[in-house]
Amino acid sequence: MSAAERWNGPAGAPSYDDYLAHDGVGAPEVLKRQHRRDLGTAPLAAERYTSQTFFELEATRLWPRVWQMACREEDIPAVGDALVYEVVGKSFVVVRTAPDRIRAYYNSCLHRGRKLLLGSAPGSSCAHVDNLRCPFHGFTWHLDGGPKFVPCRGDFPTLRRDEDLRLPEARVETWGGFVFLNMDANAPPLAQYLAPLPEHFARWGLERRFKAAHVGKVIACNWKVAQEAFMESYHVIATHPQILEFCADANARYDLLGDHVNRNLTAFGAPSPHLAGRASPDRAYAGLLAMYGQRDAGGAAPLDWYDARRKLGARVRESFRRAYGGDWSQASDAEVLDALVYNVFPNFAPWAGYAPNIVYRWRPHGRDVNSCLMEVMILKPVKEGAEPPRAVPFRLLGDRERWSDAGELPVLGAVIDQDMENMPYVQEGLLASGTGQVHLAGYQESRIRHFHATLDRYLAVDPSGT
Ligand code: FES
Ligand SMILES: [Fe+2]
Repeated sequence: MSAAERWNGPAGAPSYDDYLAHDGVGAPEVLKRQHRRDLGTAPLAAERYTSQTFFELEATRLWPRVWQMACREEDIPAVGDALVYEVVGKSFVVVRTAPDRIRAYYNSCLHRGRKLLLGSAPGSSCAHVDNLRCPFHGFTWHLDGGPKFVPCRGDFPTLRRDEDLRLPEARVETWGGFVFLNMDANAPPLAQYLAPLPEHFARWGLERRFKAAHVGKVIACNWKVAQEAFMESYHVIATHPQILEFCADANARYDLLGDHVNRNLTAFGAPSPHLAGRASPDRAYAGLLAMYGQRDAGGAAPLDWYDARRKLGARVRESFRRAYGGDWSQASDAEVLDALVYNVFPNFAPWAGYAPNIVYRWRPHGRDVNSCLMEVMILKPVKEGAEPPRAVPFRLLGDRERWSDAGELPVLGAVIDQDMENMPYVQEGLLASGTGQVHLAGYQESRIRHFHATLDRYLAVDPSGT
C-alpha cells in the first residue's frame, strides 16, 4: 500500500466527502469522485528548481510541446485586436483575424527577425492592428498571415512566392473562454489534452464569465516553486493561520485526474482539524463571512459544522442572486463555498464552482531559472440580461508593490502576500540545500508529485530524435 493510499486525514476529523454528504444542496457527481494514484515516494531533486541545465531541458522539451493558456477570448473581442504572449524566449502575436477565428503568429519578421509587435514586457497587453507591419523596413502582412507589402520585393530571390512569405503560426484552440496555443504540430487536440477538465467544467461554464481582474508580479523563484505553493492546503497552518477557523486544510481532498489535470478540494465554513477542541461552528460561520466583509445578520447559531456550511451556502446563493440575477437554487454548498482548484499541466490553474473564479498562471521570467511571472485573474458571471463587459487591462505590480495594493483583488491579495513571504526564500533555501532533496507528503502533496511525473515524461523525449 502506498503512502498516498494509507493517509486518510487526521483521526476523528470529518473528511471532505463527509462535508459533501451533509451539505444542504448536494454536490454534483464530478466532485464526489475520488482519484488516487500511487506515484511512489522518492524525494525530488532540488536542482529541478535551480539548475540551468534542467531549465534548458524544459525550454526545449516542455514549453514547445504543451498547450498553454495565452489569454481570454474577451481580451481580443474585435477583429484586429491582438496581444503578445511570451514564454522562455518565444513570442507570439495572438490576434483575432475574423469574428470566429484567432491565430497565433510567431512574433518575428521573416526579413531580419525584428519582433512585429511589442507587449508590455513581461506581461501581455492588447493592441488593435489593421495589419502586421514590421517597423524596421516595412514588411507588412494581412491579418490572415498572407503578405501584403514588401518594399522592393523583386530584390528577395528567396521570398518570391506568397507561400514563402506566409507568417508561421502556432496551433490555436479555445476552451471555456480561454485561448490556448501549442507550437507542436503533433500534439493531441486541446480537448484530449485537457480531459477530463471539459466534462467537469461543463456545469460551471467559464466561457460565460468575464475577466474582472488580471494582476501579475515577477517573483524571485523558479516558476514551479511559485506554482507548487498553490497546489496544497497543507501550508495553511503556518502561512495563513488566520483562516484555520473556517478552512478545513488537513482534511482536504486531492485528486489526480488525467496526465495533465489534478485538483484540490478544500472545504470552507468548516474548521481546520489542527484546532481540535478550540474550534466552534459559529466561529467557522462568522469567520468566513468576515473574510468576505460581511457580518452575521443574526438568527439561530449553527448547530454544528455541517449546519454552518448549510447556512453559509444559503446566504452566498442569495448574495449571488442579488448580484447577478438568475436562479442559483441548484448551486451546491460546495460549489459556492469551497476552494475547488484544478491545475492543468504545465502552468494554468482555474478554480471550479460558482464563486467568482480565480485563475492562476505561472511562467518563467525570460530565461531566468530563478524568477517567474505569476498572474492572477478573477472571472465573474455576467449579470443576467447584460452584455459581457470588456476585459480589464493587465496590471503588472512593481517590485515594491504588494498583491494587496491591487484594489482588484480584495481579500485574495492579502492571502497571496502571505504566500510571497515563502517563495523567494524557498528558492534561496533550495540553492543552499545540504541534501539536495525535497520531501513530499504522500497524499497532501500528491499533486506536486503528479506534476513532476508528467514533467519527466515530456523531458524524456528528445524532439530532435537523437
Ligand atoms: S526586419 Fe522586418 S522588415 Fe526588416
Ligand atoms: Fe497560500
